[in-house]
Amino acid sequence: MRAIVYRDFGTPDVLRLEEVEKPAPRDDEVLVAVYAASVNMFDWYMVRGKPFVFRLVLGPGRPKPLGVDLAGVVESVGRNVTRFKPGDEVFGTGRDKSVRSKRGSFAEYVSTYDEMLALKPRNVTFEQAAGIPIAGLTALQGLRNHGLLRRGQKVLVNGASGGVGTFAVQIAKAFGADVTGVCSTRNVEMVQRIGADHVIDYTRENFTTGAVRYDVILDIVASQSWPDCRRMLTDNGKYVAVGGPPRRALPLMLREPFTRGKLVTFVARANLADLNVLRQLIEDGRVTPVVDRTYPIEETAEAVRYVAAGHTRGKVVITVR
Ligand SMILES: NC(=O)c1ccc[n+]([C@@H]2O[C@H](COP(=O)([O-])OP(=O)(O)OC[C@H]3O[C@@H](n4cnc5c(N)ncnc54)[C@H](OP(=O)(O)O)[C@@H]3O)[C@@H](O)[C@H]2O)c1
Repeated sequence: MRAIVYRDFGTPDVLRLEEVEKPAPRDDEVLVAVYAASVNMFDWYMVRGKPFVFRLVLGPGRPKPLGVDLAGVVESVGRNVTRFKPGDEVFGTGRDKSVRSKRGSFAEYVSTYDEMLALKPRNVTFEQAAGIPIAGLTALQGLRNHGLLRRGQKVLVNGASGGVGTFAVQIAKAFGADVTGVCSTRNVEMVQRIGADHVIDYTRENFTTGAVRYDVILDIVASQSWPDCRRMLTDNGKYVAVGGPPRRALPLMLREPFTRGKLVTFVARANLADLNVLRQLIEDGRVTPVVDRTYPIEETAEAVRYVAAGHTRGKVVITVR
């Protein structure tokens, strides 16, 4: 099969499309013919091998196969798998439970654990479905598990126009929250269209100087200081730090223990139950994945370069078939 391969960390130019051995599913695995895969900032960090802590987490040796998110069709199943059968249309993550996984979804086939997959929402394309897993799970878990968002509360999504942000705005609306999205001028209309009640254009206004206080701030870009964000929270409010450039996002992890639970950092976890929550939200028409661009697998380097620049509007998708 063809897959994206790289032998050294570096710029996206290190990525090559090569022939590699097609995987075979183990007993508790599903072999998926990948139709589309989506690019996350995580993939760029994998290519770059930075921040350096990534290399420690990934373990010694060569770079690992690239790509997490996927949508495709079940080709065959291991003998313990009862949930899926050949021909099922699925979406999910192509890595196993370990971050040191030796699989990657930027390939024609991936063998992955059955609990990392769910049936694809019937009302979206494979390209849209491929954009769901990491971004959707991060938005869902950030708002629900860490922000403890409840109906009627006020939530601010900083970075509302990106992969995670476009899911977060829609999921927060589906939960019955009053949603403020922060984005740049060119994305104001899109963020309104996906359901934000209020939009702050960060090129004109700093959200940390406004009068409104928020029950949850889901911060995907870490553009403002923690003390400034803390002032914008209600008494029981939570600031959920999702990401941003490592030099600004990593120090937030060190602060977390000293914030009496007001600042929360987390890493999203793929699991079947949450993939199914996302599928239901999408089939109910309450969430629609936003796809910015698609690239054929031959142009994966271009796709990663575009994501690395940090200005995507929704998700960037690689088409494999
Ligand atoms: N904790 C986790 O488990 C987890 C999971 C997934 C992702 N992440 C992290 O979350 C971050 C974002 O991921 P993503 O996939 O959503 O990224 P993305 O798709 O690249 O989105 C970034 C968005 O932020 C906007 N933006 C840039 N500067 C901004 C600012 N100052 N204020 C408001 N918006 C701004 C960009 O639009 P403009 O440039 O037009 O403003 C762009 O639309 C990454 O750092 C990633 O590593 C963490």
